[in-house]
Amino acid sequence: MGADLAGRIAVVTGAGSGLGAAMCGRFAAAGMAVGALDIDDARAKETAATLAGSCGVPTMSRRVDVGDPGSLERAAAAVEATLGGCDVLCANVGVQQFGAIDRLTDDDWTWVMNVNVLGTVRTVAAFLPLLRRRSGWRAVVLTASSGVFIPGVRLGAYQTSKFAVWGFGETLRQELAAEGIGVTVLFPAGMPTRHLESSARARPAEKGEWVLLPDDIDVMMSSRKMGDEHVATPEHAVRNLLTDLVADEPYVITHGAYRAAYHERLAAIEAAFDRMEHA
Ligand SMILES: NC(=O)c1ccc[n+]([C@@H]2O[C@H](COP(=O)([O-])OP(=O)(O)OC[C@H]3O[C@@H](n4cnc5c(N)ncnc54)[C@H](O)[C@@H]3O)[C@@H](O)[C@H]2O)c1
Repeated sequence: MGADLAGRIAVVTGAGSGLGAAMCGRFAAAGMAVGALDIDDARAKETAATLAGSCGVPTMSRRVDVGDPGSLERAAAAVEATLGGCDVLCANVGVQQFGAIDRLTDDDWTWVMNVNVLGTVRTVAAFLPLLRRRSGWRAVVLTASSGVFIPGVRLGAYQTSKFAVWGFGETLRQELAAEGIGVTVLFPAGMPTRHLESSARARPAEKGEWVLLPDDIDVMMSSRKMGDEHVATPEHAVRNLLTDLVADEPYVITHGAYRAAYHERLAAIEAAFDRMEHA
């Protein structure tokens, strides 16, 4: 694969289930040590123990709340003390709160932005010193969403947060390029994970109840013209991850059939350029 992966160290947030657990599995299968971090301590522990058993690689786990900067700083120190550093950092946590724009509350917005956007920024800030102390191949992976290419209704807060993750990744990639640290943004489509359940559980009590109206998912799905062809398992979604990271690709489209919808938006932007040039 062009990089000696065995013995390298990967750290993944949101590693307790779904995409994060699948990323950990992909890294461990390549002989990499894995740090599994999640607000759900028991699930992070399970990911780490399973991979230590099946792949025989060093692993560690720790509870971390990416909504809390101190929690990430302590986790970074623990990872360095236990595994010896970090070569690949996956800032993968994202929470979902459905709601039409006029229904989303200030608490909905501040929670989603604090976890999805600032949580991503804080994860990078806490672990970047560890990456900088290592040498050779290193990478940062940020989990955005297909929502930035094929937006839908009732996803306002989540979608806004994922656009911000993408924007952060673009600048980070430029700023770290001279140091030889790659930055890759991942755009997953639908995956049958615990995302809604884990979002509901992770929402702090002071932010109020996590709400899902009976028609939220159907209305969102029909607005995005998405069907079964957009859904894949997390394991399938990460099949190219390591190859793309080693090649320092800026983007990973994991799965989904939204290329035509993406081209429609691209065409609308092209048309705006045309109108400007002919104005
Ligand atoms: N499932 C999908 O259809 C889908 C689609 C596109 C993008 N994504 C993105 O993929 C990423 C992973 O989601 P998933 O589908 O694997 O869901 P998941 O629920 O299986 O995994 C998310 C994990 O994040 C943890 N978590 C939640 N809040 C946290 C916090 N404050 N601090 C630390 N950990 C926290 C949860 O405990 C959970 O284990 C997210 O960024 C999500 O937005 C998911």
